[in-house]
Parts: sequence; structure tokens; C-alpha cells
Amino acid sequence: MGMAALLLVWALLHCAGTVTMVRASHAVYPELQSLEAEKVDETSRTGYHFQPPKHWINDPNGPMYYKGLYHLFYQYNPKGAVWGNIVWAHSVSTDLIDWTALAPGIYPSRQFDVKGCWSGSATVLPSGVPVVMYTGIDPDEHQVQNVAYPKNLSDPFLREWVKPDYNPIIAPDSGVNASAFRDPTTAWYGPDRHWRLLVGSKVGGKGLAVLYRSRDFRRWVKAHHPLHSGLTGMWECPDFFPVAVHGGGRHYRRGVDTAELHDRALAEEVKYVLKVSLDLTRYEYYTVGTYDHATDRYTPDAGFRDNDYGLRYDYGDFYASKSFYDPAKRRRVLWGWANESDTVPDDRRKGWAGIQAIPRKLWLSPRGKQLIQWPVEEVKALRAKHVNVSDKVVKSGQYFEVTGFKSSDVEVEFAIGDLSKAERFNPRWLTDPQALCKKRGARETGEVGPFGLWVLAAGDLTERTAVFFRVFRANSSSSSRLVVLMCNDPTNSTFEAQVYRPTFASFVNVDIARTKTIALRTLIEPSVVESFGAGGRTCILTRVYPKKALGDNAHLFVFNHGEVDVKVTRLDAWEMRTPKMNVPAQ
Ligand code: FRU
Repeated sequence: MGMAALLLVWALLHCAGTVTMVRASHAVYPELQSLEAEKVDETSRTGYHFQPPKHWINDPNGPMYYKGLYHLFYQYNPKGAVWGNIVWAHSVSTDLIDWTALAPGIYPSRQFDVKGCWSGSATVLPSGVPVVMYTGIDPDEHQVQNVAYPKNLSDPFLREWVKPDYNPIIAPDSGVNASAFRDPTTAWYGPDRHWRLLVGSKVGGKGLAVLYRSRDFRRWVKAHHPLHSGLTGMWECPDFFPVAVHGGGRHYRRGVDTAELHDRALAEEVKYVLKVSLDLTRYEYYTVGTYDHATDRYTPDAGFRDNDYGLRYDYGDFYASKSFYDPAKRRRVLWGWANESDTVPDDRRKGWAGIQAIPRKLWLSPRGKQLIQWPVEEVKALRAKHVNVSDKVVKSGQYFEVTGFKSSDVEVEFAIGDLSKAERFNPRWLTDPQALCKKRGARETGEVGPFGLWVLAAGDLTERTAVFFRVFRANSSSSSRLVVLMCNDPTNSTFEAQVYRPTFASFVNVDIARTKTIALRTLIEPSVVESFGAGGRTCILTRVYPKKALGDNAHLFVFNHGEVDVKVTRLDAWEMRTPKMNVPAQ
């Protein structure tokens, strides 16, 4: 079955009534979208993953840092737990951990956004003034791009936003598909004193990052060619930003703001990242490459696949992501939306749907072959009760329990005894790790692996989500190479039959023949397991809905279903405190 057919089957399984149409890829339930939640079911609500007190959320919008506060806007339905009535909800934080909820910042109020305020970005102008650019849906359902400015710059909360009368600043011209033209990026300023930004779009089956230029941020002119395009269907939520290359190590891991690139030395030490969200498959991919300001051409580096098989920030449930440069800590921070995997009737019953992944610091790997992500350091401040295990051998077929917490942060490192026993790798598996992991799930014994964690597990293991590794040996005529697969298998996460439970997986770019160890960090709480393999080289977020393994009944186990012994060199698990999550401002 093709991906489109699978998606259709999935949509049918999850519908509560009739899905009348699919717009911006979100299923629309007209009869449900304005039914306010009567109560909120807390059972599977997250504690430290971002979410509002109730109702539907999707994409993170316009993240930025302004006068000591982090701002996060997000697509929100103020009236119900399914997609619809979309506004930009608004929250602020001093540390990306405790959040204060403000009134929606941008909501339909003018002709140019009367039918919705969709995704967009923030740009902090050289004067220090922040401006947001977003997609408005006009009375004809055309997607247009608008700007809004803060009403009062001395309010650090930036509560009120003014939409100038000269909006829309970009309307679809005749060459543009007016119902596939959205999600403007943060703008950047070129050496030729022109601002630039991208808008996601498509022509036929081709996804586009349409480029616009402006001298004054008001009059925008479409460039003759898009910055980039690909035969992957509609491109939603493009993101385009510089990253420091390892070089002399001077800027390594630190984020780069386009505004800093007048510093020639720094400009020569950056690459660019282009990320797009694929409307057809609901996955994202990115490439790293070079960008020539003079010609406005972006060229992915050799070795990066520029299609659906490209690298992803996250191989699980993570979409419509957006990064921003944080000047306070000189880092690039990534936000991504994690949709529910349960059913629409469940969302109605819960009174809420959708969370944001933990914000991640993101940087280019030393060899420039991929991006690395790691939960922002502030997350550690939530760590409370702690358990530790060290140098414990887990023999073939064995498992052991570590104290489980309702919500936790777990770091573990496995050392592998005998890698020479690794099973043969079939090169055909290379293009589809997810299928490989489905075939060789956590219960399928092997040689080196499966070994890893059972998280959100019931004490009797009737419910459990497996996050694990398997190691294979790929033989070529002259040499053999070890291939590491990282999987998330939620097959046994719940006995609720209706829940969508795909196995997520990817290969991990790590030289395990040299390290002989592999590390895993997992952020676990009700309904979410967010994992970072090999120090953030492979990330997988999954939504799971155990019925038993919640609260004090959420257990954590280490298991090894491979023939070869593994050793837990160290495991640290912390119980996580619950931050102030979207407490309304006084
Ligand atoms: C991505 C997306 C965007 C759009 C928004 C509408 O999830 O479809 O393309 O702007 O959601 O809520």
C-alpha cells in the first residue's frame, strides 16, 4: 500500500464523523471545531512538555527572544479540541521551562485574515523591533502574507499586535497556487541591503521555497526563481538558517544569527540549513549546503539526500518545526509540534490535542554531515529524585527494573560485548529503517540487540514502549561496516486498539566499532516518549497512551533480547518536577 493510501486508511480510522475536506492537511470536522471542551481529562497530559490548559494546538509560530523573555506563539483553536478557528496563542517564559499564557497575539480581525491566522515567523529588525509575518486566509480562502508589529514596545510581554492597513504585504500572483502559499520564514538581510524571506508553496507535484525581496519590509518582490524546490509535493513551514561549521572550533555548537554575518570571518565559517515540512507524508527533511547571496542560490552539499529520504530532525511524531536564534545563550533553538496519535473521539473526550516537543539546541556535527540536537540545558533544572545504576551486565534474554517515575529524564549508556556477532545487513533495508524495525521489533530476538529501555511500562509488562538499538554488519567486498538501528516500538504501549501505533526508526551515524558503546537519553511522561540516540544524532518522539503504566505505575526497565551481552555502564534517571505550564498572566 502506498503512503497516500495508508494516510487515508489512518484518517478513516481516526474520524469521529465525516471529514469534509482536508485543508492545510488538517482534517476538518465542522461539527466539532467549535465545541468547547466541557472538562479536561488529565490522565495522559504532559507535565513539562509544552501545552495549553485545553483544546487543539499545532505548529509553533514566531519563536523569539525579546528583552529577557522567550516568546512562543502557536496555532491554536480557542473553541475546541480539533483543528479550526485558528489563532496565534501566545506564551512567554524567562527560561523555556515555566510558561505564562497570555491572550492570543494574532487573531482574525481584518479582511486579510478573516478566515484564519496561520503559521509564520518573527524577525527582530536591526532597530530591535520585532515583527511577525504570518499567513492570513482572506474571504476568498486565498493565502496571503501579512505583517504585525507590537503596539507597545515597552511591554516586554508584547501582548498587543497591530496589523498595518497596507497588508497583505504579499498576495499570491498569477503564477502562484493561492491555496498552497503559506508559512513565511524569518527574514534575513543581505549585503545588498535587501531583506529576503521564503514562503512555502507548490506547483503541480513540486514543492517550492518561493523567495521574496524587500528594501523596506513593506514592498516585497518575488524573485525570478525559488530559493529551492523538490519533487516532494507541497512544502509547508520552510526554515532556512545559518549554522557554524566546526572549522577551528571557535564557533562550534554556538548558534549563528543572520544579522551577525556582516562579520566576514564568521560568514566564511557557516553553512546553511533548509528544512521543509512535507504536506503529503507529514514528515520533514533537511539538507545542509551553501547559500550564495549574490545569486540567491542554495546548493545542498554532496551526500545530502534532497527528497523524502533526506535526513530528519526527528524520525517520529514531529512536524511543522521552527528554529530561532537565541541571543541570550548564543544558540539556535528548535521547536516542533507533536500531534496526538489517539482518535478524534478521544481528543474530544480529553478536551485537548497536541503538544510541543521539548525545545532543542541544534548545531552542525563536527564533520558537517548532519545536525545534532539536544534538549535545552534548562530542562535539567527540573530534575529531582535520582536513581543510578552502573556497570550492570544484562545477559541475553534478561531484563531488570529501575525505579520508574511518573515523568522522568533518563540517560543511559550501553557497552556491547562482542560486536563480531552482529547479524548480516541487507543493503535493501537502507532506504526503509522504519520497515526494518517493524519487521524486527523489540520482541524479535537477534544477535547484537535488540537492547534498550522499556518505558511507560506496567509492572507486569503488559504495557510497554520499547526504545532500543540493534547492530548489523554490512559486508562489502573489501571491508565490513557496522550499522546501528535505533527504534521506537509502541506495539505494546497500550491495549487500546484504536490508537495509531507506528514503529519509528532510523540509522544512527556513529562509529560503534570504535566507541563500542551507545548512549540514549529519553524524556518520558504520560503520552510522550522523546528520545535522543548517540548524543542527539538520531531523535525519535512518539505519542503513546498507556492505561495502566501511569503515575506510580509507570515503570522503567532495561532489556536485552540479543544473544550478545550488553553492559549498562551508567544509567541515571531523574524524576521531573512539573513546571508552571501556561499559567494565565495576572
Ligand atoms: C502545518 C500547517 C501550515 C499552516 C498551519 C495551519 O501543520 O498546515 O502549513 O499554516 O498548519 O494551521
